[in-house]
Amino acid sequence: MSSRAATPAARAAELRHLLEHHNYRYHVLDDPEIDDSAYDVLFDELKALEEAHPTLVTPDSPTQRVGAPPAAGFMKVAHLSPMGSLEKVTTPEALEKWHADIRKRLGTDEPVAYVLEPKIDGSAVSLVYEDGVLVRGATRGDGERGEDVTANIRTVDAIPLRMLGDDVPTRVEVRGEIFFPLDGFARFNESQLAAGKKPAPNARNAAAGSLRQLNPAITAERPLSIFVYGIGVLEGHELATQGKTLEWLREQGFRTNPAARRVETLAEVVEACIAWESRRATLGYEIDGIVIKVDSFDQQRRLGSLHGRPRFARAFKWAPTSAVTRLTKIHVRVGRTGVLNPLAELEPVHVGGVTVTSATLHNEDDIRRKDIREGDLVVVQRAGDVIPQVVGPAGEHEPRTKPWRMPKRCPLCKTEIVKPEGEVMHRCPNRACPSRGLETLYHWVGPAMDIENVGASTIKKLWDEGIVRSLPDLYRLSVVQLAELEGYAEISAARAVASIQHSKEQPFSRILFGLNIPKVGWVIARSLALHFRTVEALVAATLEQLEDVEGIGPERAELIAEWFADPENLALVGELRALGLQLALAETDRPPEGRLTGLHYVITGTLEGWTREEARSALEELGAKVGDSVSRKTTAVIVGESPGSKAQKAEKLGVPVLSEADFGALLGS
Ligand code: IVH
Repeated sequence: MSSRAATPAARAAELRHLLEHHNYRYHVLDDPEIDDSAYDVLFDELKALEEAHPTLVTPDSPTQRVGAPPAAGFMKVAHLSPMGSLEKVTTPEALEKWHADIRKRLGTDEPVAYVLEPKIDGSAVSLVYEDGVLVRGATRGDGERGEDVTANIRTVDAIPLRMLGDDVPTRVEVRGEIFFPLDGFARFNESQLAAGKKPAPNARNAAAGSLRQLNPAITAERPLSIFVYGIGVLEGHELATQGKTLEWLREQGFRTNPAARRVETLAEVVEACIAWESRRATLGYEIDGIVIKVDSFDQQRRLGSLHGRPRFARAFKWAPTSAVTRLTKIHVRVGRTGVLNPLAELEPVHVGGVTVTSATLHNEDDIRRKDIREGDLVVVQRAGDVIPQVVGPAGEHEPRTKPWRMPKRCPLCKTEIVKPEGEVMHRCPNRACPSRGLETLYHWVGPAMDIENVGASTIKKLWDEGIVRSLPDLYRLSVVQLAELEGYAEISAARAVASIQHSKEQPFSRILFGLNIPKVGWVIARSLALHFRTVEALVAATLEQLEDVEGIGPERAELIAEWFADPENLALVGELRALGLQLALAETDRPPEGRLTGLHYVITGTLEGWTREEARSALEELGAKVGDSVSRKTTAVIVGESPGSKAQKAEKLGVPVLSEADFGALLGS
C-alpha cells in the first residue's frame, strides 16, 4: 500500500472500508477485483491492528463475523412488522384469474406492472439495520416472532455488516432468503457421511439447520449465501416500487437475485413461470417457483391483504422435486459391460411431474453410506431431466431389515462377482455372461441404432429362443423366424426385419456407440468417428493418437486400445462390415462447418438469456465443439452467473474467459 494512513485508528478504518468493498465485489456482485490471498493480507493486517489496539474493534468490523461464543439457546424476538406468506398458484389459469381480480380492484384502465423473482427454497430471515449497521438477524418463526440468530447471520459473507450508501436510513428491516448453494451442499453431505453423520435430506433443511447452530463457528463453516427480496420497515427513506427497491438494496450492499425482472403484461408473467422450470436445474441453488409481485407500492397498498397474505403477490409453484415413498426391494441389474447396478424398486410416487417406480442406487458403498435398506421409507428426488435418485431414509423407523449387501454371484450366470482394486463398482467377470450379449443388444436396438419396431421384449424372446445371441445374428434374422415367435404376425415381423436392415444406413458414430466399448458414450463415439474417419484407422491408433481426441485421457485411451486389440472384437467388427454396416465416416456424421469449426468451448454457470442446451447448440451450429471439462485445448470458457470451479480452472490454465455479453457478441459477429 503506497499511502499509509497516519494513525492506527485511521488505518483500521481504511482497512475496514477496503475489506467491505472487496467483500461486496466478491459476494454480492460476483465480480472480485482482487484475489483471495490479497484479501487475506488486508484482513490479517486489520486483525493484527485490532489485537494491538483492542479499542479499535467495532462491531461491524469484518473481523467480527465469527467470534461470538456458543449460545445456550435463541431468544424469541418480535418482528418489526409481520413476515407473512404467499398464496400459491400452480397453473396459468390461476394466474389469469388473479390478474383479472387485480384489474377489477384497481380499475381496468390502470396499467399494472409486475416484478418476477425466483422463489428461493431456503430459510427466510429478517435483518435489521440501524444507521446502516446490522443490529439483529432473526428467523421467520411463526411470522410474528422469530429467533434471534444475529451471531450466525453475521458469519454469512454475502450479508453486509454495514450498509454501503452514504445516505443510510435510520432504520430498515431487510428480508431475504438464506440458502445453501448446491455445490456446497453436495460437499457438505459428503463430509457428513465421511464423519459418520446423517446427511441433510435437501439444501433447504441444511440452510435452516445451519442458521440454528448454537455455535456460530459451525455456521461460519457452511457456505451459506442470501438473496434479499424486500423490506419490512423503512424509516428515513422513501421507495415507490419493488423494482426500485431491489435496485436500492443492491446499491446498499445487499445481494439481490440478478434474474429478477419487471414485466408489463400477464403473457410475460405466464411465459416466465413456464420457462423457468427448465432453467431450474442449471441455477446452482434450489428454487421452488417464481414470486410475482405488483411493482407499484401504491397499488400494493390499495390491494391490501387477505388473512395475512398479500393480494398483490403470488407464488407460482412447480411440482415438488422430492417425495417420500417406500423402497420395496433392491434389485441388481447387470449392465452391458458386466457392471452390477443396484436399482431401487419403489412404491409409485409422484415427483417432479412424473410417477416414479424405480431409481438408481449407484453402488454398494453408496447404499451403505446412506444406510438405505429394503423396506425403508426413503426420500426420492428428481429435478429436471435428472434420473430419480434415492437421497436416503426418510427419518428413523423400526424395525428395519439388515444392511443391504451386493450378491456374491451374478444374478444371470452365477459367476462369482469381483470388485477390482480401487473401483467402486462390482462386476461379473464372465465374458460369456448373458448380460453382456443381451444388454448389448438392448443398447444396440435402443439408444445406439434406434431401430423402430424392435423393442426389448422382442430381443429378450429372440435371446431366450437362442435365435439372436450376437449383433450379427440380428442382421441375419429372417421374417419367418420372427413370425414364429409368439405375438408376432407376418406383417409386424416383416416390418421389424425391414427396420433392422434399414439400420445399416446408420452412421459410423452410432455403430461405435453401439459396440459397447468401455467408457465410450455418445459424445466420445462421435469424436472418435470424426477424428479417425475409418475403423481401420481407429484399430491402428496408438495411445498418443487416441489421447489427441477431445475428451480422451490416458485411462480411456487404454480401454479403447485394449478393446480394439481383442481378436473377438475385431472379428465382430469384420462381421458387421461384411453384413453391410458403415464402418467409416458418412456425410451425416459430420458436424456443421462454420465460423467456429475447430474451436472448443466450455460453458459454466447460469446464463441469463439462454439455457445450457440453447447455448450449446448455438455454438455447435457454427461448428464449435462444446465440452464439459476445461483443458489447455479449450478455446474459451463462457462464464455465467454462479460459475463453478471451471472458471477458476480456466484462469489457472490461462484459458480466456467470456462473459454472457462476450458470448452474445461471439454469436452475433
Ligand atoms: S416475498 C408476504 N419474495 O417464500 C411474504 N418471498 O411464502 C412476501 N421466498 O417464506 C414474501 N423467495 O421467504 C418473497 N423472492 C421472494 C422469495 C420469497 C423466497 C420465500 C419467503 C417466504 C415464502 C413466501
